[in-house]
Amino acid sequence: MEITSQWIFSLILLILPAYFANAAPVWLNPSGDKAGKIKTTPIDGGRNFWDGRRTLGDGKTWEGLFGGIAVGWLSGTMMGWAGFIPLGFTFDLWFWVALFLSIGAHAGDLLGSFIKRRLNVGSGGQFPVFDQLGFVILSLLFASFVAPQIAYLIGFEGFFFLLALSYGAHVLFNWIAFKIGLKKVPW
Ligand code: CTP
Ligand code: MG
Repeated sequence: MEITSQWIFSLILLILPAYFANAAPVWLNPSGDKAGKIKTTPIDGGRNFWDGRRTLGDGKTWEGLFGGIAVGWLSGTMMGWAGFIPLGFTFDLWFWVALFLSIGAHAGDLLGSFIKRRLNVGSGGQFPVFDQLGFVILSLLFASFVAPQIAYLIGFEGFFFLLALSYGAHVLFNWIAFKIGLKKVPW
């Protein structure tokens, strides 16, 4: 794939619903000074796994999961209405890709928390690389279920570009969320 500014723009459009899906829970269910705005329900029901540690922890709620997927899907749909659709997809395909990107982002997030708890990393604790990239990798994987052509359309270059971009964006936006009281920790 030839690297042009247009191709890079398309890659950014492609991943945006995953970013919205991943970021929305922080704003819907803040943990910093603005905590406790809505009543939330942990997905694991507060229960422990076989190892005696929390299955997912209090940072993974049903409200964050469904709210995040809805916001990601809606943001993709609105991009489509505005004519911002990546990789030459039709609106109909993009509509489903946006949903699967959002579901995948949350699957990656939940998997990350599950692994963190097994490794005895508490909720909100740091798990470098996984915290920043788990959601992107699973989001692209899930999107490929409905649009397998994503693999060759983005190629290795596109995939690594999205990993680098997402790493930077995750670090930056979590720091901002911390500064404005939406998060207790800057990561
Ligand atoms: N969040 C939520 N429900 C989700 C995902 C996230 O309510 N399904 C909210 C929580 O307030 C969470 C915040 O978004 O604290 C930030 O998400 P994240 O960094 O993924 O969670 P952590 O609190 O760091 O927890 P973990 O260590 O399990 O990743
Ligand atoms: Mg975190």
